[in-house]
Amino acid sequence: MTNLGTSLCCVVLAAVVVAYAQKRSQLVARNQYERMGSDVTMRCGSLDDEASVSWKVNGTDVRARHRLDGPRLVLTQVDLGHNGLYSCFQNPRGERRDTINLRIGTLPREPAVSCRSNTYPKGFYCSWHLQHPTNIPTDFQVEVLYNMRVLDVQKDLVHKNRIHVLFPEVFSMKPDPPERVVATPIPSNVRRLEVSWISPSSWPEVDSFPLKYFLRYRPLIKDQWQHVELSDSTSHTITDAIAGKEYIIQVAAKDTEIGTWSDWSVAVHATPWMDQPKQITSTTDTSDPLLGRGEEKEGGREGG
Ligand SMILES: *[C@@H]1O[C@H](CO)[C@@H](O)[C@H](O)[C@H]1NC(C)=O
Repeated sequence: MTNLGTSLCCVVLAAVVVAYAQKRSQLVARNQYERMGSDVTMRCGSLDDEASVSWKVNGTDVRARHRLDGPRLVLTQVDLGHNGLYSCFQNPRGERRDTINLRIGTLPREPAVSCRSNTYPKGFYCSWHLQHPTNIPTDFQVEVLYNMRVLDVQKDLVHKNRIHVLFPEVFSMKPDPPERVVATPIPSNVRRLEVSWISPSSWPEVDSFPLKYFLRYRPLIKDQWQHVELSDSTSHTITDAIAGKEYIIQVAAKDTEIGTWSDWSVAVHATPWMDQPKQITSTTDTSDPLLGRGEEKEGGREGG
């Protein structure tokens, strides 16, 4: 008896809860998001297919092109003008059965992302925005990868579209090698070579994160490199080349504050200007009086 009483009470309670939920769903608008340009079907609550209903939008008759299909309202080729609060009323007594807040939107496109640092080299932050509004709520997922590793990010407390990234302890900032290294002879100058390059294209914003460079060069026939370190210039004139000798030249890059040197760039070859066409000579010819001149102490750096 007690058991029966308990179950009965609960059945009644459950029925009340369900009835309340149904009532509530008829009164509280639910959101329906649809894509711009599509045909949209709104369904009046859970009424069956034979039910006859009337629809209103913002409390007045639906004026946009539409079709009625039992408890369904079909709008064709929707745009932002179709946004509104749609209510349906069951005929013939006109009880409200559902309220839908129709919101037309577009798929988000790739956001524009930019990253800066005001605590460099400890960390940086990235912000993003959509260049084309979606007109509907849009979520963003942020993942920061460094060397295939996912870094921890912190959401900014004030700016919705911003995250902060700390450089991990072991963060090694190793740029890619400089690109488009070119070495050219200077006319009438038998000992000079003009070398230029550009910063690695993978390096973000050279203006914010300047690079310094390391240049090494040697005549093809010798093993010892000569080195020059350059603060942020992307060109250098070699003035002590051996006349008539083919040189091999490479450049490396490094962030001015932190990190390690890049690998060496692809080697380029160049020979200083010669007023006589070059004689074919053996590269093992060590009787050349100019050999061994114009050298500096070997620097301790040999990159890959
Ligand atoms: C309904 O009202 C909203 C808010 O005032 C308005 O933006 C929207 O255009 C209206 N929709 C229609 C179909 O009149």
